[in-house]
Amino acid sequence: MSPASQIFTAEETLDPSYLPARLVHREAELALLARRFRAALSKGLPYHCLVTGGVGSGKTALVRRLATDLDRGGRLGDLAVRSIYVNCWRRASDRTVMLDLLRLVHVSLPDRGYSLSEMLDVFEQGIRRTPQHLLILLDEAAALVRQDTKLVYLLSRSREVELGSISLVLVAAQDLFPYLDPASRSSFGVTHRLALSPYDREALTDILEERAKLAMRPGSVDRDVLEQIARIAAPNGDARFALEILAGAAHAAEDSGSDSVLAEHVRRAKGSLLPTVTEEHLGALSTNQLGVLLALSRSLKRRGASVPSQKLRAAHAALVEELGAAPMSRTTFWRTLKELERDGLVTLDAAGTGESSQVGMDELPASLLTTLLEERTGGARARKG
Ligand SMILES: Nc1ncnc2c1ncn2[C@@H]1O[C@H](COP(=O)(O)OP(=O)(O)O)[C@@H](O)[C@H]1O
Ligand SMILES: [Mg+2]
Repeated sequence: MSPASQIFTAEETLDPSYLPARLVHREAELALLARRFRAALSKGLPYHCLVTGGVGSGKTALVRRLATDLDRGGRLGDLAVRSIYVNCWRRASDRTVMLDLLRLVHVSLPDRGYSLSEMLDVFEQGIRRTPQHLLILLDEAAALVRQDTKLVYLLSRSREVELGSISLVLVAAQDLFPYLDPASRSSFGVTHRLALSPYDREALTDILEERAKLAMRPGSVDRDVLEQIARIAAPNGDARFALEILAGAAHAAEDSGSDSVLAEHVRRAKGSLLPTVTEEHLGALSTNQLGVLLALSRSLKRRGASVPSQKLRAAHAALVEELGAAPMSRTTFWRTLKELERDGLVTLDAAGTGESSQVGMDELPASLLTTLLEERTGGARARKG
């Protein structure tokens, strides 16, 4: 077995099921929801809300954080808060969700032969025993809601149907409002809906930094490497993907005996998670494109996450000379770089313009690209430099 980890101190805190105490860049949303729930519950009124956002936008983390904070926050009005969480993915029927809810309030019922309203009666008896504000989180609720659920209606009308204080949080990727029946819609008006915007690159970098602090030894990953990961995940604003890459890169670093996570490890992790560059893809490139990519992959192998474009151009000029090929004009160099960017093979930092851009490449480990490209452009001759 390997000795104690060189990188991780608490690897489990990178697991998707781990709920961090702090959700950077979602403080405002969390505070808003907490305020609304507290205001209503302390008056003895339930409060419902619908939370939407793309994959990895932090919906599950946000509502679980909210629920845990409310659970621990003491009584509101006369009652304590008790939250229960059900992921409705693959359980998209009122009955199966209801069986989960029953189990979570410690009532067992054979899963056959009971109608929804009988189950609700039993549920009511279960929750009556301990009066409290029940906060029911229905995560990934899209399929449930689209199947003409009655449960959402019944739970959101808990007072009228004498179920006690039940608040409902629906979580889904898309807006579910159009799918709700007219009666339920009144419970999910504008002030009862929260749409999470995708994380941008900066937010993703901060999230990665926060999570790296929990999971990894101090100093084992630099901010520019986290920025590199954020840049990969930014097009979808997906924190989950970003954290997967971080974990993969940390493992790649450990496997290679490094005590810190480097750009090279990120490229390797990303390559194994989402191998978007194929040999076929490389085969379709022009000689100019190949030359620029090769210069880039060599520079990155030495320098890290990205190189300034002037440095890349110098490296490319040296490579061309080495190969005995004709030099490339500045315009052609730029056009080639832009083509590679369009094909998703390199990234040009939007912050820089023209000659001062940072050029990056995240698709594959630079070492592998170098080998593939050298084979194409003339092998040993190119390698001797
Ligand atoms: N603001 C944040 N701070 C720290 N970690 C976050 C934040 N937002 C999301 N995460 C983490 O990113 C991953 C994906 O978030 P999740 O809530 O599962 O997204 P969603 O439910 O929208 O798909 C989880 O591991 C979660 O802990
Ligand atoms: Mg989720």
